[in-house]
Amino acid sequence: ALPTLAALAFGYLLGSIPFGLILTRMAGLGDVRQIGSGNIGATNVLRTGNKKLAAATLLLDALKGTAAAAIASRWGLDAGIAAGFAAFLGHLFPVWLGFKGGKGVATYVGLLLGLVPVMLAVFAAVWIGLAYITRYSSLSALVATAASPVVLWFLGHEKVALLFLVLTIITWWKHSANISRLLSGTESKIGSKG
Ligand code: G3P
Repeated sequence: ALPTLAALAFGYLLGSIPFGLILTRMAGLGDVRQIGSGNIGATNVLRTGNKKLAAATLLLDALKGTAAAAIASRWGLDAGIAAGFAAFLGHLFPVWLGFKGGKGVATYVGLLLGLVPVMLAVFAAVWIGLAYITRYSSLSALVATAASPVVLWFLGHEKVALLFLVLTIITWWKHSANISRLLSGTESKIGSKG
């Protein structure tokens, strides 16, 4: 139906804005895809040494998901889910960058906030706790995204839990290089430039 198509197009366009790339370019730091992991996300923007820019990337990449889901939700939960899912895909596969986008964690969090706000606290607690202990951004995200669908299910948000199960699988797939590095002990830690 037209509202669903409109929600998908709107979400995708919003999600495909590569804030990490735009902000680092505007700050004269060059192309963030040439440093560290080559990713356009906040973790890699932090490897430029600019904490404020990394925080802004995290916030804006998250708010893409929040805005897509929250705005489209006015036409019902299904429209919100469609727009949110499309925003997530837009972030991971932006047409503007030859479909080579980010790994999805910030947009995932923003979507959680847009659809089930209390989940922001759950995700943040797991991510921050693990990041504090291990210093691995990727590992913290892998565990927090694994936990989210389970918690959503127990909170009674079955439909949203299924959406996030799919998002978690895609996020894990996008982190395959990180998983290999974690297993071989070569993953870079938060605060290191690697
Ligand atoms: O959110 C992305 C993070 O989990 C990993 O980023 O740059 O270390 O591959 P990066």
